[in-house]
Amino acid sequence: MSRLIVVSNRVAPTQEGRPAAGGLAIGVLDALKETGGVWFGWSGEIAGEPSAPVIEKQGNVTYATVALSKRDYDQYYRGFSNATLWPTFHYRNDLSRYDRQEYAGYLRVNASLAKQLKEMIRPDDIIWVHDYHMLPFARCLRELGVKNPIGFFLHIPFPVPQVLFTVPPHEELVKDMCSYDVVGFQTDADRQSFVDYIERGRHGTASDDNMVHAYNRFLKVAAYPIGIYPDAIAKASVQFTDRKAVKSLRDAMRNRKLIMSVDRLDYSKGLVERFQAFERLLLNAPGWHGRVSLVQIAPPTRSDVQTYQRIRQNLEGEAGRINGRFAQLDWTPIQYLNRKYERNLLMALFRQSQVGYVTPLRDGMNLVAKEYVASQDPADPGVLVLSQFAGAAEQLPGALVVNPFDLSQMAEALERALSMPLAERQARHADMMAPLRENNLSVWRDTFLADLRHVSTASSVTEKAVKRVDVTV
Ligand code: G6P
Repeated sequence: MSRLIVVSNRVAPTQEGRPAAGGLAIGVLDALKETGGVWFGWSGEIAGEPSAPVIEKQGNVTYATVALSKRDYDQYYRGFSNATLWPTFHYRNDLSRYDRQEYAGYLRVNASLAKQLKEMIRPDDIIWVHDYHMLPFARCLRELGVKNPIGFFLHIPFPVPQVLFTVPPHEELVKDMCSYDVVGFQTDADRQSFVDYIERGRHGTASDDNMVHAYNRFLKVAAYPIGIYPDAIAKASVQFTDRKAVKSLRDAMRNRKLIMSVDRLDYSKGLVERFQAFERLLLNAPGWHGRVSLVQIAPPTRSDVQTYQRIRQNLEGEAGRINGRFAQLDWTPIQYLNRKYERNLLMALFRQSQVGYVTPLRDGMNLVAKEYVASQDPADPGVLVLSQFAGAAEQLPGALVVNPFDLSQMAEALERALSMPLAERQARHADMMAPLRENNLSVWRDTFLADLRHVSTASSVTEKAVKRVDVTV
């Protein structure tokens, strides 16, 4: 059996129980624990001098992590990845900036990480690269002579061509993506955007079996929606109910309904609009005053990127304003917490709430939406209010799907969720649990890796056949 090497910028914390940073780390860690393998990426540290990877083994996963220099961190992570690609891929090109030096840093770090990884690669390893920080990584490995199968999965949305065009080196990036053997997206819409870019720009062609021929390469381009392990989450949500934090939340919410949201403090998550829609509910339906609270957990993230500082200020202002307007001596409408919680504890907190309020303006998948559903008590489940712009909306038919730009619609959905009869809540919950089980995280991993093995075998056969023809002609 070949060894799996996972590559991503962010590597999950090596100690169990520590809060994870974002969907990628959660999904990849759970997926990797079953198969075992190597996880290569940034250690999260900034160091003066480049150094060899630090190797740490936890169970069957070997972590190989490297530090970044301050310059690399500024140009590759804070700069091109998070101030150019992240906003643009989330359709916020108004927040995006482009700096040629930062792009050069992005390419340099990819090349240097590829060089470090190359030393560890064995001939039958299979390499799976993740997310927007690493678009050129396969090209860098290929230039070093690596022939192994290399797949790529994008955890965030892939924008339509007109939006992608606003990133000046767009064509170079797409061309680099074609050095992978399989390119995977969260949704079919993302896959279509990529294919549209290739076809409308006449860079190549796509066939019905999801194969793309572009820039002298054949690759598979398909949607692989990332899943969760719903039964493990359901179990954790029960096991952690006795924790102090869960008990105090329950006590505080006695006789009161609870709407819950958990997101990284990111402008793509639609937090301001979410608060304002909750405000609208309180305006339209005064009967709920004192009877419902919104708990928003939002750990700060990328706080040294300017756009993230602004969203934080904005949100603090909105929470203060809305609370000042409606609070009573014994009731705070919005509880806004800027801190991280352990994941299992969050699942138990979700189970105490009547509404899961997940309304990003744009999101690749949003695993929180799936986790909220899985952590509910099937006998008395809460209702999910979900943005149509989260990849998860395609897969959670029982959610109340809203447009996060329509505050009135969101307020109505909240009211409907808060008053929904038990039978309807149960039916909606069951409608969502079935697909979550069927398309769980193992299915995501196994389908992607099966395609990667298949495509790379098929293309090496094609390559050999082409060479033989060349010789005989
Ligand atoms: C999203 C991205 C991940 C990233 C995570 C946390 O989920 O898709 O690639 O790791 O956010 O962001 P950070 O910048 O802290 O790694």
